[in-house]
Amino acid sequence: MDELETWLERVYQADGERKTLDALYDEWAGDYDQQLWASGNPYIAIATGMVGRHVRDFDARILDVGCGTGNMAQVLHQMGYHNLEGLDPSSGMLAVAQRKEVYEQLHQLYLDSQVDLPDAHYDAVVAAGVLTHGHAPPESLDGIIKLTRSGGIIVFSLSTIAHDEYGFKQKIAELDATGHWEKLDQSLMFRTYPFSDKEAHLRHWVLAYRKC
Ligand SMILES: C[S@@+](CC[C@H](N)C(=O)[O-])C[C@H]1O[C@@H](n2cnc3c(N)ncnc32)[C@H](O)[C@@H]1O
Repeated sequence: MDELETWLERVYQADGERKTLDALYDEWAGDYDQQLWASGNPYIAIATGMVGRHVRDFDARILDVGCGTGNMAQVLHQMGYHNLEGLDPSSGMLAVAQRKEVYEQLHQLYLDSQVDLPDAHYDAVVAAGVLTHGHAPPESLDGIIKLTRSGGIIVFSLSTIAHDEYGFKQKIAELDATGHWEKLDQSLMFRTYPFSDKEAHLRHWVLAYRKC
């Protein structure tokens, strides 16, 4: 747990500076999976459960944004989904993801309002652990909507800090009001790192939407 806490501190200290953050994730990649699963963070379990509830077609073309080492897609693949693509800026994280052999394609890109992938191309877009402070900004939701086909499903984890203090609350209200999507589901709030006293303040939800 100490190692995880040290990495989290370094990641949050980068304060969203992209090159610093990418270098940190490159360095973390080798130990990331072991530390993530040992942390008890339930977001992948809840997010993959939401995909199972709302994406009923195993042939669906699913984009995992901020895919990191591919933990989300690894579970989706085990559930029977096979048309999976991933996007992440960190070459180190992508190298680990590639070795899992669960993605049809991986894209070394940032998620923001304009993502250089085809519009309305994906049946579902998923994001775990990315919509949080110091990572992808609120405008990333515009990028996710741009990539999702009409009627497609969007599932993402969201930290309460990002929601309350980093502009996601306002961005979500704007997308609700402009009818870009309709809300399908929201988990209960959960503690992100249940075994860490230092990170006891961190909380997340997982949300699901349908693009209109
Ligand atoms: C906490 S990890 C989560 C990885 C994976 N989704 C998982 O749940 O195991 C956060 C990931 O988001 C990526 N990331 C950070 N900023 C990003 C951005 N603007 N666009 C896309 N990915 C980003 C990092 O490179 C890192 O791989």
